Amino acid sequence: MVRLEPMSPEEFRTFLAWLDQDYADAHVRAGTWDRASALERAHAETQKLLPDGPATPDQFLNTIRESSTGARVGEIWHAIQREGTRPQLFVFWVGIDEKHRRRGYAGEALRMLEAEARRTGCYRVALHVFGDNTNARTLYTRLGYRETNVLMAKPVDA
Ligand SMILES: CC(C)(COP(=O)(O)OP(=O)(O)OC[C@H]1O[C@@H](n2cnc3c(N)ncnc32)[C@H](O)[C@@H]1OP(=O)(O)O)[C@@H](O)C(=O)NCCC(=O)NCCS
Repeated sequence: MVRLEPMSPEEFRTFLAWLDQDYADAHVRAGTWDRASALERAHAETQKLLPDGPATPDQFLNTIRESSTGARVGEIWHAIQREGTRPQLFVFWVGIDEKHRRRGYAGEALRMLEAEARRTGCYRVALHVFGDNTNARTLYTRLGYRETNVLMAKPVDA
């Protein structure tokens, strides 16, 4: 069992530095950003989404903790997006530390956000996942997520 707890300022700083690097690496792997500018671009994107850090309205950054022990096992970041005709809950990130994986923690945290979506009047939970992230895609498919947009690419030599 897990519980979600708002990140402390220190947890937020550590998380964001790590996330920027991870996001930059993923874009470099996907071939969408070059290595030299990737970290700066990743940082610019998170700053745009979180201008007031964890206090940014409609943004929620939580530490995932094991309920009985209180031990930190990962992080989950979501937003309530109100741009469309109906609000949706968007999951920007879910991650479980390697040593705690395959124990159902991510699945459980995502189900908690489903309940949160219903409670806040959202009509769906949405997220983005890179095509090569088969572990996450398997998890999302098992939870009932379906592809709504698919970007395809084929490298060609210049
Ligand atoms: C993806 C991730 C969040 C899953 O966390 P988790 O707590 O291990 O996931 P769960 O235990 O809830 O997994 C449930 C199911 O997802 C699938 N799954 C998760 N990890 C898998 C793996 N390494 N290999 C195959 N299937 C996997 C399985 O179907 C699994 O069920 P099973 O263990 O009964 O086979 C975790 O691997 C992670 O943090 N990865 C790095 C960060 C990341 O990629 N986050 C997603 C960004 S979009």
